[in-house]
Amino acid sequence: MDSNKRPDTMKRITTRELANAFIDEQVKAVKEQVGDKKVLLALSGGVDSSVVAALLIKAIGKQLICVHVNHGLMRKGESEQVIEVFEKGLDANLIYIDATDRFLDKLKGVSEPEKKRKIIGGEFIVVFDEEARKLTDVKFLAQGTIYPDILESDGVKAHHNVGGLPEEMQFELVEPVKLLYKDEVREVGRALGLPDEMVDRQPFPGPGLGVRCLGAITRDRLHALREADAILREEFEICGLSKKVWQYFVAVPDFKSVGVKDGKRYEGWPAIIRAVNTTDAMSATIEEIPYAVLHKITDRITKEVDGINRVCLDLTPKPIGTIEWE
Ligand code: XMP
Repeated sequence: MDSNKRPDTMKRITTRELANAFIDEQVKAVKEQVGDKKVLLALSGGVDSSVVAALLIKAIGKQLICVHVNHGLMRKGESEQVIEVFEKGLDANLIYIDATDRFLDKLKGVSEPEKKRKIIGGEFIVVFDEEARKLTDVKFLAQGTIYPDILESDGVKAHHNVGGLPEEMQFELVEPVKLLYKDEVREVGRALGLPDEMVDRQPFPGPGLGVRCLGAITRDRLHALREADAILREEFEICGLSKKVWQYFVAVPDFKSVGVKDGKRYEGWPAIIRAVNTTDAMSATIEEIPYAVLHKITDRITKEVDGINRVCLDLTPKPIGTIEWE
């Protein structure tokens, strides 16, 4: 039987009971697979890797070593949440690496989108590999592969790519949610006790804010983007749009316009709001954000975020615009 094919008889996990049954089954399977060996997991804090981490902690406790690489391109508060939930909440064996300087130094002056993506993906493997080499006795690599990843590609997530690790470091894979669809992964995450903010998170690209800080990334503009994005998320939370909109974020281009603040000339970057709905990310429509919400967001971003002097709204569906700007 092809272990990468979802059996026709497998029930869709839509209830707490089905999620609990799945968890029991996988806890047993993982214990059998890994025995007393150690398992390594790149824990980004996204839904899939978080659910795998919680599941494996339940199955094998401290035999799981989670590595969270902060590439400096995370949204505001994300790395802190990983530490809070996994280290403090679940007593995980967590290695936290703040690699911000390494990533930002490598990205300095690089404006071409594909080059930026390659640098971020490549450096991630290097940092992860350095950590893996410091550990002994690790035989397994856990991955948050889910069923759409298998259907759409070769089943290996680019940023957790075992193929990118050196030859002598070949691990056996542990992929407990690889036959699940996203909604099922969320259901399992809830049953494992992960917080709603983590389980219901909107998709976030592997290269993170790197593809939203357009052109060559600078620390000051990245900081402005992160703060503006946090305000957008807060306001969407307050007005309830966060539960309705599929993906929403801010992009900040690398040019300035003239403005005025406190009676003086104030040059700043524009913050561009994008809020889209889709089912498969292949095409997307635009969410109609109420004007009152837009005015509040504009007011807060221009008052609270240094370096931003305008707020714009992107009304472009996909196609013709992709969801991300880069
Ligand atoms: P686009 O911009 O192609 O995005 O319309 C479609 C969806 O994919 C996400 N995305 C990425 N996810 N690595 C990822 O893991 C990437 O390099 C990447 N680029 C885009 C994007 O956020 C949207 O949900």
